[in-house]
Amino acid sequence: MSRTPIQFLVAPKEVKRFIIECMVAIGTEAKHGAALADTLVAADGRGHYSHGLNRLEMYIKEVKTKACDGNATPTIVKETPSTAFVDARNGLGSVAGIFCMQLAIEKAKNTGIAWVTCAHSNHYGIAGFYSQMATRSGLVGMSMTNTSPLMMPTRGKKEVLGTNPIAFGAPGMDGDDFMLDMATTAVAVGKVEVNHRKQIPIPTGWAVDKDGKDTNSTSEYNDGGKLLPLGGREETSGYKGYGLATMVDVLCGVMSGGPYGERIRKWTGDPSEADLGHMFMALDPSVFINDFPTRMSGLMSDLRNQQPAESDKPVLVAGDPERMQEKLVEQDGGITYHVSIINAMDQVADSLSVQKMERTSKHS
Ligand SMILES: NC(=O)c1ccc[n+]([C@@H]2O[C@H](COP(=O)([O-])OP(=O)(O)OC[C@H]3O[C@@H](n4cnc5c(N)ncnc54)[C@H](O)[C@@H]3O)[C@@H](O)[C@H]2O)c1
Repeated sequence: MSRTPIQFLVAPKEVKRFIIECMVAIGTEAKHGAALADTLVAADGRGHYSHGLNRLEMYIKEVKTKACDGNATPTIVKETPSTAFVDARNGLGSVAGIFCMQLAIEKAKNTGIAWVTCAHSNHYGIAGFYSQMATRSGLVGMSMTNTSPLMMPTRGKKEVLGTNPIAFGAPGMDGDDFMLDMATTAVAVGKVEVNHRKQIPIPTGWAVDKDGKDTNSTSEYNDGGKLLPLGGREETSGYKGYGLATMVDVLCGVMSGGPYGERIRKWTGDPSEADLGHMFMALDPSVFINDFPTRMSGLMSDLRNQQPAESDKPVLVAGDPERMQEKLVEQDGGITYHVSIINAMDQVADSLSVQKMERTSKHS
């Protein structure tokens, strides 16, 4: 008896084609659809399924309901040789993010360091996409964004801060880099969504239910639950994640002149504009030393060469799990998707009269 496949392989360029056609079908210019596709395909290719195709329905809904303007182009409101204040004009976060980091890179190449703050934007995907734009230009890069409130602060009961990610990247030799890209909650909310799609439980420590009790159930989370800060409860130093999330909101919400904390619109069911803020920093390490990439590679090999506690689990540095996932995609000739996301994308294709993604079933 033949079993229904549960995993499928889709070539990255086919995923990109699909995303662009979906966005064009709802009136977005192809170049903006392509910017969105670049960030979503990068997320799935790195194994962050929370921020790839899993988010496409959200972007489509936002553009269709005009909560986000799919065709807006960002503008520079104010600038100095090493800073810029950018208005995303309620456009796609990926379009704003790429624009701002490109600007930061150009400025840093002239001045040594640049900082760009972006206001009036939308969800921009994986923060690491932007810090990696900097490392690929030989620069140290950083990016952060505020997001809708989902995190319960230490000692609090209500969600008042977002999953506010931080991405910090530093270039090593031969294209290697250190790439710390993390939510300041225990995990990105998209990981709860992915488990919900697959109908599998979440580990203890990610979230609490509506009464503040630990939960492993995605349905209990969806029914008024909250995410825990990175570090979990007060006893396990969750206040550090809470502090980092607040720092992100200082640099993205307070600094951009937009809403912050619980003043940001709700994550679901709120039709108003997201009005998010982002920050982007690029630094040319040669303003300090000439052998930064060699020294970075030295640090990373010292860490990777540590004796592991379990012989089959080597010590990694941030960015390695994603690099391994990218290699797997290359070897397989495609990104592996769970049947739940393929089915959801087929429904999107039907609703927009777009050709479904070509795929092959993957036998594990
Ligand atoms: N745009 C938004 O609103 C938003 C909000 C939250 C998160 N995100 C994105 O979601 C993605 C997932 O975030 P997350 O916090 O769930 O990621 P995660 O917990 O999977 O990984 C966080 C970091 O830890 C590193 N890491 C993982 N295992 C490691 C190991 N064994 N040794 C050393 N380093 C290791 C990873 O390389 C990564 O840099 C990120 O790309 C983030 O930018 C976006």
